[in-house]
Amino acid sequence: KKCDHDKKKNNISMAILYHSSSPTLLLTDLCLSVLFYSQRVEVRPRMACPFSVVVAIDFGTTSSGYAFSFTQDSEAIHMMKRWEGGDPGVANQKSPTCLLLTPDLRFHSFGFAARDFYHDLDPEEARHWLYFDKFKMKIHSTSDLTMETELEAVNGRRVRAIEVFAHALRFFREHALKEVKDQSSSVLEGEEIRWVITVPAVWRQPAKQFMREAAYLAGLVSPDCPEQLLIALEPEAASIYCRKLRLHQVIDLSLTEGEDLTSDTVCGFASDDFLRRSRHSRTFLVESGTGELWSELQTGDRYIVADCGGGTVDLTVHQIEQPQGTLKELYKASGGPYGAVGVDLAFEAMLCQIFGEDFIQTFKAKRPAAWVDLTIAFEARKRTAAPGRANALNISLPFSFIDFYKRHKGQSVEAALRRSNMNIVKWSSQGMLRLTQEAMNELFQPTITNIVKHIEELMAKPEVRGVRFLFLVGGFAESPMLQKAVQKALGRTCRIIIPHDVGLTILKGAVLFGLDPTVVRVRRCPLTYGVGVLNRFIDGRHPRDKLLIKDGREWCTDILDRFVCVDQSVALGEVVRRSYTPARMGQRKIIINIYCSTTDDITYISDPGVRKCGTITLDLPEPLPPPGAVGGAGAGAERREIRATMQFGDTEIKVTAVDVMSNRSVRASIDFLSN
Ligand SMILES: Nc1ncnc2c1ncn2[C@@H]1O[C@H](COP(=O)(O)OP(=O)(O)OP(=O)(O)O)[C@@H](O)[C@H]1O
Ligand SMILES: [Mg+2]
Repeated sequence: KKCDHDKKKNNISMAILYHSSSPTLLLTDLCLSVLFYSQRVEVRPRMACPFSVVVAIDFGTTSSGYAFSFTQDSEAIHMMKRWEGGDPGVANQKSPTCLLLTPDLRFHSFGFAARDFYHDLDPEEARHWLYFDKFKMKIHSTSDLTMETELEAVNGRRVRAIEVFAHALRFFREHALKEVKDQSSSVLEGEEIRWVITVPAVWRQPAKQFMREAAYLAGLVSPDCPEQLLIALEPEAASIYCRKLRLHQVIDLSLTEGEDLTSDTVCGFASDDFLRRSRHSRTFLVESGTGELWSELQTGDRYIVADCGGGTVDLTVHQIEQPQGTLKELYKASGGPYGAVGVDLAFEAMLCQIFGEDFIQTFKAKRPAAWVDLTIAFEARKRTAAPGRANALNISLPFSFIDFYKRHKGQSVEAALRRSNMNIVKWSSQGMLRLTQEAMNELFQPTITNIVKHIEELMAKPEVRGVRFLFLVGGFAESPMLQKAVQKALGRTCRIIIPHDVGLTILKGAVLFGLDPTVVRVRRCPLTYGVGVLNRFIDGRHPRDKLLIKDGREWCTDILDRFVCVDQSVALGEVVRRSYTPARMGQRKIIINIYCSTTDDITYISDPGVRKCGTITLDLPEPLPPPGAVGGAGAGAERREIRATMQFGDTEIKVTAVDVMSNRSVRASIDFLSN
């Protein structure tokens, strides 16, 4: 309230600190504070892992899981115990990301258990239960994500998204804790566990913070110990693991000179046998150094990791720094919503085309269980789709689909199919849709084209040109359709490598990241970040419409003071420092708006493409009375200087602050969720 009042009364504060030759004022909505430049770079020493266990959670769009490792025995990574269920025709190592809440909003179940229970509910009763699946996508697609953002359950009821995520994380927490405790000889305290949650590298700051808040809500860690939780980037985690790979742990899709694409043997996992064997064991051993795959590597060689998941395809470009084996990011993370669910959506669109969109929507709403059945059937078939396949893929339509259609439309499913002129989909008398090879191609093609196009575009960037390896990871990388398409497009440009157990590379890498988060030593900024400031107005340089006269002085307003630029390399531990001074005596809070942009050619916060994306809050403690203090805020020597230190080289942006005079640390927080 008080600040609001001040804001109206005194839009621009008068406090100016002539610290540097060109005085700069900070432009804030709430209170105005002075700022002067001081930017320094320092590199943090490597820290030994102070935790005894690392538990990583891969929270996927379609499937999720966890893995852990004891720091005493960090070369062994243990995969989660399968706690229930499975699907016919689908070998899953993670659990489906499905959550079921009771009609009174309590947690009921997660994973196969949630899906199967929901499926078996009486349709009347099911309408009261809240079933969520594929809900991770919403976090990326929501542009104004906040703590209040809601998710819609299948029955249409809405719940705060943060609650949904917290329920799921709580479930993982309980399972992981139990399993870790079972395997540990000593008594484990909660604070001995470091948690890692993976998110797509293309997620923006609000989404990463959202995941963190959900983890706090779930009780994974306390907000007082933020460093106990790490947010890992999915392709980055995969890359950390890939650098450990040995030759027998990969499939190489590269095409050698003279080789053509007529044979399909390279696709479809020649080493199925190996996969089956390794799936029996839930413990994986990793190399202590860099794997032998890299023996032919030369200093400076670059590689791309493409995480082809259910929701997103996420790419990262790395270089291994020898001899330490640390990683350097060479180009900002890129990717998009081209995950394998694109194929599922194409199938749904095809059903709409045949049976009518209104019918499909009604069917989904009225017969949710049958819809789940249909999607399970499709999932199994989708996984067997391969480019060289001659015969059609059969997908059985649930009886209730056939029956519902007849009652709703007064005609048979078969008639609908005939009328739709869909020659590539046939009807089998055994109640099955027969998708021809052509139909399957059509379902996969848009998604696969997007992926290949994206990788090609990335490879054309100067920083990326000449990469030696392309690693395909994530569940979708198991698809022979995708493998073949990537091989065809890029098999002669670089070596295409698919690690065994591709679906688990992210989890394994996330555990390695938790054991040593300093392994990625340099990252690229995904965006330009800065704050709005006022500078001395210079005629001829600044436009007149930015002129602001205050107390006889001329200021240029709206200038963006850049902290970091898009695609800038930032080393771990490198910091950006700015000092701020409260404009008024007794001011207890400084709130600073952060702006971001996808480009770097910006001067003013009012330039096109610049958005306010978050705030930094500095909570000022009661100032210690300086000996014999007199005078107000402008009294030079007594002016408080709050030094804010911001880090952009981690997976999340961090801020800390100190009150310089008393050398006390100041509560500093950065918030991207309240816009
Ligand atoms: N053989 C296969 N053919 C086609 N698609 C496959 C195959 N195996 C797995 N998939 C697809 O891969 C996806 C699962 O991959 P993964 O577990 O890496 O995704 P996720 O982690 O849930 O998603 P994201 O990382 O995007 O949040 C599913 O959509 C699944 O249908
Ligand atoms: Mg994933």
